[in-house]
Amino acid sequence: MPAVAVIGAQWGDEGKGKIVDLLSEKVNMVVRFSGGNNAGHTVINPHGEFKLRLVPSGVFHRDATCIIGNGVVIDPAVLLEEIDAVKKSGVSLERLFVSDRANLIMPYHRLLDGLEEEARGGGAIGTTRRGIGPCYTDKVGRLGVRAGDLLDREMFRERLSFVLEQKNRILTKLYDAEPLSFDSMYDEYCGYADRLVPHIRPTDMIVQRALEAGQTVLLEGAQGTMLDVDFGTYPYVTSTSTIVGGACSGLGISPLRVDRVIGVCKAYSTRVGAGPMPTELTDEMGERIRERAHEYGVVTRRPRRCGWFDAVVCRFSTRINGFSDFALTRLDILDIMPSIKVCTGYKVDGKTLTDPPSSPSVLARCKPVYEELAGWESDTSEIRHFQELPAAARSYVERLEELIGCPASVVSVGPSREQTIILRDVP
Ligand code: GDP
Ligand code: IMO
Ligand code: MG
Repeated sequence: MPAVAVIGAQWGDEGKGKIVDLLSEKVNMVVRFSGGNNAGHTVINPHGEFKLRLVPSGVFHRDATCIIGNGVVIDPAVLLEEIDAVKKSGVSLERLFVSDRANLIMPYHRLLDGLEEEARGGGAIGTTRRGIGPCYTDKVGRLGVRAGDLLDREMFRERLSFVLEQKNRILTKLYDAEPLSFDSMYDEYCGYADRLVPHIRPTDMIVQRALEAGQTVLLEGAQGTMLDVDFGTYPYVTSTSTIVGGACSGLGISPLRVDRVIGVCKAYSTRVGAGPMPTELTDEMGERIRERAHEYGVVTRRPRRCGWFDAVVCRFSTRINGFSDFALTRLDILDIMPSIKVCTGYKVDGKTLTDPPSSPSVLARCKPVYEELAGWESDTSEIRHFQELPAAARSYVERLEELIGCPASVVSVGPSREQTIILRDVP
């Protein structure tokens, strides 16, 4: 079996962690291909509850090799902390490999993330301030420090001294900040290298060989399509390609290898940080969803903005990623609603749109066109078969299938592995 991708269809936090943990049981390899520790993927299984930021969510399955690909940016301190937390639960991490080509998040990236956000003033993106944007900026600006540089201390010393000189100039001259010390940064990262080096490999080859051998490789997306640097709500996006296309460059595999693309959609919408969100509910209903679903960011603990399901967004994501099917998560959150709204189009400037406009100011003025569906007002969290769902819940799922343009293969009714309804073959 070739590669199967799991991709967020909205603004992140769709429940990718749960779906990847669930699907990892039968796969040989689980790989992260983009983002960094801006991601927070919740996994609840017999080993405990985990908020994974860099380690792939398949790590709890003994037979799955886990890969952090070249497209990921790595904060070594966070990765090591996470490795320790996972190990504590009795899970081995000998099968975790990190690409030698992955860029490292350095202390100046975190610092610049905060300084740049402050400089944006009212136009701030609301980043996670983990250094993600500045690290990707350096990657494409050819000023990055990569995991492979840690394999050769002399090369690392040379690279860091060259890069830090430039960064200190920016910090002191542009931001009036204190320069960072080379010696303490070098020593700190050499300390990380001592522990990380055994995991650093040419992971592109490992993934390619697995695919050639007919193994199943699960590609774990981070963030969501609406946070993609090209197709998201730019400039209120993250700094990387979150869509399935990013998996090929973020791992070094051919698009011909990707056999299935599963979109993950939450039964309503959420967003953390700034930027337009047409179905956002700023009233008591939005508050009700947030409290019931405990919608607070995994990484920054910020309250997530909540709203009704936006089919314009999910249909767009289906086109951009070519979703073959989708996993619908958090259906149980809607159990208490007497009626449920779904956005089928946007009204703006006297026109009705069925695709999100690329301009953030136009998107900000879009008013959702809603279709109202009946709620079911009963508990679905114990249901394990689609036919046993209340008729109104089945109709909701079926209507979303029509609007999104592909079938649902999984319906999730709770955070744990077993709270899942499988409708169609999953890998
Ligand atoms: P990710 O970033 O896409 O992996 O999603 P997050 O982990 O940031 O947020 C999803 C949240 O929803 C987590 O707290 C999950 O435990 C939880 N979750 C996932 N699926 C379900 C579900 O079907 N029902 C409920 N109630 N919670 C879910
Ligand atoms: P997972 O993988 C939700 C958002 C931030 C901010 C914007 C840019 O858990 O779904 P960044 O730090 O990336 O420069 O911030 O992107 N963001 C996420 N929102 N889930 C995520 O990841 C996110 N990763 C980044 O809130 O608005
Ligand atoms: Mg998350």
